[in-house]
Amino acid sequence: MHFEPSSTPIHRHTAVNVVLDTAYQGIDRATWAHLFSEARQSKLDQFIADLFAGKHINASENRPALHSALRNLHKTPVLINGKDVMPAVAAVWSRMETLCSQWEGVTDVIHIGIGGSDFGPRLAIEALAYVPGITSRGMRMHFLANIDTAELARIVARAEAKSTRVIIVSKSFTTLETTMNAKAIVAWLKDSGCNQAQIADALYAVTANVPAASAFGVSKDNIYPFWDWVGGRYSVWSAVGLPIALQYGFDTFQEFLAGAEAMDLHFKNAPLEDNLPVIMALALLHQQKTHGITSYAAIPYADALDWFPKWLQQLDMESNGKSVDRDGKPVQFSSPVVFGSAGSNAQHSYFQMLHQGTEIIPIDFIAVREPMSDRPEAVSHHRILLSNCLAQAQALANGKTASNPNDVYPGQRPSNLLLLPKLNAFYLGALLALYENRAASLGALWNINSFDQPGVEYGKVLAKPIEKALASHANDIVASEHIDAVTAARINFLNS
Ligand code: F6P
Repeated sequence: MHFEPSSTPIHRHTAVNVVLDTAYQGIDRATWAHLFSEARQSKLDQFIADLFAGKHINASENRPALHSALRNLHKTPVLINGKDVMPAVAAVWSRMETLCSQWEGVTDVIHIGIGGSDFGPRLAIEALAYVPGITSRGMRMHFLANIDTAELARIVARAEAKSTRVIIVSKSFTTLETTMNAKAIVAWLKDSGCNQAQIADALYAVTANVPAASAFGVSKDNIYPFWDWVGGRYSVWSAVGLPIALQYGFDTFQEFLAGAEAMDLHFKNAPLEDNLPVIMALALLHQQKTHGITSYAAIPYADALDWFPKWLQQLDMESNGKSVDRDGKPVQFSSPVVFGSAGSNAQHSYFQMLHQGTEIIPIDFIAVREPMSDRPEAVSHHRILLSNCLAQAQALANGKTASNPNDVYPGQRPSNLLLLPKLNAFYLGALLALYENRAASLGALWNINSFDQPGVEYGKVLAKPIEKALASHANDIVASEHIDAVTAARINFLNS
């Protein structure tokens, strides 16, 4: 691999003030040219146009993937079956804004949701809490995702029932973890002395299945809809992001949307050669082809982004972890394993393997120019944070020779550097949209439908007979159609 200085125009690209530096990808000019030409052959530019035009690119579910409409603050018409969806989107914005001005005396918010109905708002609530001087309502924000009652118990121990609001978030409103947790929280409100009217006031829902939320008992006025053309993992831009607006203000939520919208416009309009999501996708594809990489790490050098890799895992792996392409044919490449956590902490954990392990694992280093605090130590600490980030990338790329083989760094390990000017709602939105659009680009390059998740369903189906067998307390379960011999033995062991 040959690393050119990042000042080379082919290696430093800026969009929405976010800088992408690919100098340590080891991709030379001719190879980049080849990659862009391959992208054109794969009709990536046409795919991007189709994505924004609302074509049914989620073919298996026969619908568009139009999460971009949710952050289309300019309200440019977005047509689905000839009908502009923007008036409905804007109507939800206005209801969200009104709600932000209505809540008084709320001490606790319990957000119940899992997967895409959890990661986005949780990441944003956590990340924005670090923004110096951000206006916050200061409510305790609790996220209840797991069916494990440990989480539930911790939350109800901390919340004041009479001044709690509950937001049940589920696109389908059929997810067992969410509906069971919602029932448990309603029971807790009752047990804590809230009457029917108080419970009705406390309950809110965000869903694409309004009838199911009504049937659950959420009053019509407290249901915030979104639509089947929004994938769960792409839904933080809808009313799923309500906690962001309620805690930090509707203006902040709009800033978050504005950052994402700006990144969408860049993705939609910039030539492939200048297009950040496309360049990142092509770099990853190149590393798959040349080094057979099977995983990559995202390391934000910002504590505020500690939840980012978890959000990214669902985005990338649920979107693109597929074995067959759009035509049902086996794919050569699909999503690598994604992992990561905040630097520099990560350096003191698994970086040893990244430097000297036998596998090449590309890294996205994500750094923020400005320190995230106004502490007197902020500038000097931030300098050290950035130095660490730059040093790791350099060591990974160049390696180090030594007479003792144990001290040799092989080097030749590719990385990106993403530099945000600062971290606030706007740049958080831009960062998430950058990765969403990169995931879509990769899906297009691999010819994978990035917008369904059929593989998640089978395990859910199998859980039902297993739960029934556990509930029976029997210890003589035998293998059957849905329970194999190993699982039958495990059930019998648990039941005895
Ligand atoms: O189980 C995976 C999944 O289907 C994700 O795609 C989704 O984000 C999550 O479950 C939650 O689904 P829902 O929002 O419908 O409750």
